[in-house]
Order: sequence, then C-alpha cells, then structure tokens
Amino acid sequence: MTLISQEKGSTKDLNSIHQPVLVEQVMEYLQPQNLGSYIDATVGLGGHAKTILDQSGPTGKILAIDQDQEALKQSVQRLSEYEKRMIFHHGNFSEIKNIATLNGFEASDGILADLGVSSMQLSEASRGFSFQNEGPLDMRMDSSSRLKAKEVVNNYPENELASLIYKYGEETHSRRIAREIVKARPLNSTKGLANAVVRATQRKKRGRIHPATQTFQAIRIIVNDELNVLNQFLKNAVELLKPGGRVAVISFHSLEDRIVKTTFKTMTGYCTCPPKFPKCLCGQVKIIKLLTRKPVVAKDIEKNKNPRSRSAKLRVAEKL
Ligand SMILES: C[S@@+](CC[C@H](N)C(=O)[O-])C[C@H]1O[C@@H](n2cnc3c(N)ncnc32)[C@H](O)[C@@H]1O
Repeated sequence: MTLISQEKGSTKDLNSIHQPVLVEQVMEYLQPQNLGSYIDATVGLGGHAKTILDQSGPTGKILAIDQDQEALKQSVQRLSEYEKRMIFHHGNFSEIKNIATLNGFEASDGILADLGVSSMQLSEASRGFSFQNEGPLDMRMDSSSRLKAKEVVNNYPENELASLIYKYGEETHSRRIAREIVKARPLNSTKGLANAVVRATQRKKRGRIHPATQTFQAIRIIVNDELNVLNQFLKNAVELLKPGGRVAVISFHSLEDRIVKTTFKTMTGYCTCPPKFPKCLCGQVKIIKLLTRKPVVAKDIEKNKNPRSRSAKLRVAEKL
C-alpha cells in the first residue's frame, strides 16, 4: 500500500516509514474475532490495526486513537479500505475512558498500546525528536500541546534539568550535561543540544549508542508527560475491557516497562500488607490475571530485520 506524502509530494511505502513490532505475538494474545471490538490506543501508521482487522474477519471493529494529527491523517489514508469498521480519534490515551465512551467502545475485547514514537516521527526533522537530523527543539507528539523541548532546555534551572535527565534518561552524567546545556544557552536546534551533550561527556562515553540518546529520551518524556499518561491509561484501559478481554502493552525502555509491570501486578491483587496481619488491610482486589509472567521479546529474525524491535517488551493481562 502506498501513500502520498503531502509535504514532499513523494510516494512512499508506509512499511518503509514504520515497521510495526511484535505483530505476530500481539495477535496471539489478542486473538481478534468476528464481532470483536478493539481499541488501538496508539494507531500510528496503522500496522497493528490493519492486522487486527484482517484477522478479526469482516465484522471486527477498531477505535483508533493517536495524539499525533499527522500520524492519524496517514493511517486514515492507509486504512481507507476498512473505513466502515474504524473510528479514528485524535487524543491522548490517558483519556481513553472518555474517548471510548464517546465512540461506543465501553466494552472492549482487546486494547493495544504500542508506546513511544514512530519511525516517521523520528525521521521527520521538523518534529525535533532526533539528534541525527538538524531540527527545531520541539519533541511534541501532539503539536497542539504547549510545552516544547526548547522551553525545557532553555528555561529549566540547572539543578532541575540535571535531576530530570537522571530520572528520565537514567543518565549518570546528568550534572555535567545540565551544566553544559546551561552554558550553551540559548539552544535552538537538535544538533545544538546533541553537541552540548557530546561536549559534556567527551571521553566519558564510549559505546554503540550516541551520547545524546538518554538526554533526548528524558526531554521527550518531560515534554509529552509520558510516564504519567501511561499510568492513567493502564488504570482506565482495564475498566473498559469485557471480562476475558485483554490489554497488551509494548514498551521500549525500562521506565515504561517498570510501570506496566508494577501496575499489572497491583491489579492482580498482589498484597503488600505485612504478613503478621491476620487479614489483608489494603483491600486489594484481583481485577486481572497476567498472561505474560516475563515480557515477550522479539525473535532474532525480527531483531535483525527491524532494529526498533530489539528493545521492545510486550506484557499482556486479561480482565477477570
Ligand atoms: C510506536 S508508534 C505506533 C505504531 C503503530 N502500532 C503502527 O503499527 O504503525 C507510537 C504512536 O503512539 C502515539 N502515542 C504515543 N503516546 C501517546 C499517547 N499518550 N496518546 C495517544 N497516542 C500516543 C505516537 O504519536 C505514535 O504515533
């Protein structure tokens, strides 16, 4: 399938722009069925959604959500042949309960969230996600939201910047990096930021990944409030499932995966009351059962074909 890229006027194969990860494994868990009602909370370019619709048969339907208008526009185009079985909604998945209620998807058989950014977002220099391309310091997935990377980089106090880069980038050189960023202000471009990080970590960082990887991850998490919205999504998504319905989440770094793991664990009725109490005091109720004791990862063949899949972790739970 092809699409016309409006900005550049070129025709591109969508799979060359974004290759979905762990598709086979997600389908094994979601088991799309005729008459099934599914929510793809991060439809992106529609790779997973298309497979769900193909496998569910002619009466399966999807509510497709994305906070990126451009991604949504492209998936509408890509999935036009399924338009009678799809509803597209621009919004943040933290609002999934309202969005589902508004669109008649309050009782779902399966919900998928494939977190993070798409290859399309990364490769579009003007979005400012990548240190490989010269672009503005933006990093917003939702271009209508207010906070841009530029504000974080240029206005946050050095101490706050250092602790956020440490917390959200798990970056051990965060103090040194924050100091160099403050010295280099005002910063206006992705390359300018990446160069400041490289200067700060010269001789300290050797390895396969670019020295600015963790700093860019941290700033992107702040700009899009990624961890808070994930927490809200998980709690709300489970409420929308029918008994026996499943929620599948693909994460790409340890901070996200930890949230998915611990939130699911809490909902399985895992109790933290001290054992000496004769009765559980916390009142934890079992809401779900875990279907993946350990996260599902990509097979070597997929890892070789699609480098993005190397860090992907899939966790799935079923509503009781
Ligand atoms: C990895 S891509 C999804 C790719 C998709 N599964 C496919 O097959 O093409 C992640 C998408 O999720 C969107 N996204 C990330 N966080 C979101 C959120 N909190 N709410 C809604 N969409 C979000 C991004 O804009 C991006 O388009």
